[in-house]
Amino acid sequence: MKTIGSRLFVLLAICLAFMLASTVFHYENVVGLKDKLILMERFNDLRDDLLELRRYEKNVFLAGDLGDVDKLTSYLLQTINTFDELKDQIKNIMGAQTFKQYRSALEGYEKLAYRGIDSERRGTIDYVNSQIREKGKLLNEYTDQLIEAKRSRIDQAINTILIIPLIFFVLFLAVFAFMLMKARRNISKPLSILRAATEKVSRGDFKQIQYIVDRGDEISACINAFNKMTQEIKIRQEQLLHSRKMAAIGTFTSGIAHELNNPINNISLLVETLTEDQDLTASERSKLYQDLMTQADRSTEIVKGLLEFSRTDQEHLERLSLGDVVDKTVRLVKNKMKLQGVNYEKSINTPLKPIWIDKSRLQQALLNLLINAIQAMPNGGTLGIAICAGDAPDEIRIDVADTGVGIPAERLDSIFDPFFTTKKEGEGTGLGLSVTYAIIKKHGGRITVQSTPGKGTIFSIFLNAKANHESEQNPA
Ligand SMILES: Nc1ncnc2c1ncn2[C@@H]1O[C@H](COP(=O)(O)OP(=O)(O)OP(=O)(O)O)[C@@H](O)[C@H]1O
Ligand SMILES: [Mg+2]
Repeated sequence: MKTIGSRLFVLLAICLAFMLASTVFHYENVVGLKDKLILMERFNDLRDDLLELRRYEKNVFLAGDLGDVDKLTSYLLQTINTFDELKDQIKNIMGAQTFKQYRSALEGYEKLAYRGIDSERRGTIDYVNSQIREKGKLLNEYTDQLIEAKRSRIDQAINTILIIPLIFFVLFLAVFAFMLMKARRNISKPLSILRAATEKVSRGDFKQIQYIVDRGDEISACINAFNKMTQEIKIRQEQLLHSRKMAAIGTFTSGIAHELNNPINNISLLVETLTEDQDLTASERSKLYQDLMTQADRSTEIVKGLLEFSRTDQEHLERLSLGDVVDKTVRLVKNKMKLQGVNYEKSINTPLKPIWIDKSRLQQALLNLLINAIQAMPNGGTLGIAICAGDAPDEIRIDVADTGVGIPAERLDSIFDPFFTTKKEGEGTGLGLSVTYAIIKKHGGRITVQSTPGKGTIFSIFLNAKANHESEQNPA
């Protein structure tokens, strides 16, 4: 009986039990009241008989009207009969003691009445008159007492009928509130924990849910399944990461070999020509030396890029405005943009306070993005830089957007890998984005990319101004 379904069933059963109990109770009370009202009518009959009896008692004993003797005896009999019929109920209401007194008063009255009738008929003087009136009064008092007691019982029954549904309602509310609290604790709370954990998964956090328990219901099963799923995803992700790492190392090493091989081959060919060919003119030799220098420079460029990529030395942090760094970097490619017919747009949508950055590295990271953007627009276009607020408070975002060729979705995962390039041999080493990525990471930031093939690409750099502010107190 631990599933949510069975719990709902129990809740429903409790509600029904409450309704049933209150209906039965109410029904019994109403039936009881009805019986009491019927009995009250019978008691009223007894009083009416007694009143009639007392009227004829006056006629016979006070006025001496012997014509009413029959009526008197008939009502006397009727009163006694009614009393006998109701004796159990009377005893129940008045108690045994008072009932006894009531009955002996009635018996006394009967005796006195027959004695008085006898004397009246014989014309003898008897002093029964005043006694019979006393007894009659006493009977009236007992009957009034009986009716009063019955009325107060009826009032009590009506009050019970009015108050019991209220009591049931309050009890029901208390039970319902208790069940609701339990449902909140056992259903709502774990569900909201599950929802929060699912949202974390969508952000790449595969932490397991620590919340309880094996209660054996659907929610525990859900949490267990969720934990299993995150564990599985984590394992798969690690496997994927490992295979991506291996692929990246493959690209990396073959990239280094390939990139360095070309200039080295060229250098050895040039040296060979210079040493073996004695017929070379001075200008030809000077041209070959120039080529030699170009090849050596290319090798140095590749090694520099590699060093930048794996640089672990301290940054040189300065407190600078991002706007200035952006402007200075753009200046370096202004000429290139002009030649290629690329328009430049800049917008700043957040207050720019100076933050701690390594100027030359951040410039290099931006430069790589700018060069890529320009290269992606061989027939011109627009290069836009926007500085705005990031996703989190204290985060600043720099967007570098172009209207170039774009990047196909299946290539997005590889563009930050070292030596990944789609450019022709000699045009690109494939180190630009990996260097940019490493620099932004060093700054405690992150970089993302969105691209639509044929429409353009946006690279977004997120820098944490707060982290930089912390380094303000303790600059490296
Ligand atoms: N703005 C962009 N538009 C379209 N493709 C891009 C853009 N930026 C990068 N790419 C793609 O990502 C690849 C990797 O870029 P990365 O800067 O790392 O190397 P590269 O530009 O090819 O060579 P290098 O920067 O070393 O001269 C590029 O070859 C290109 O295919
Ligand atoms: Mg590049």
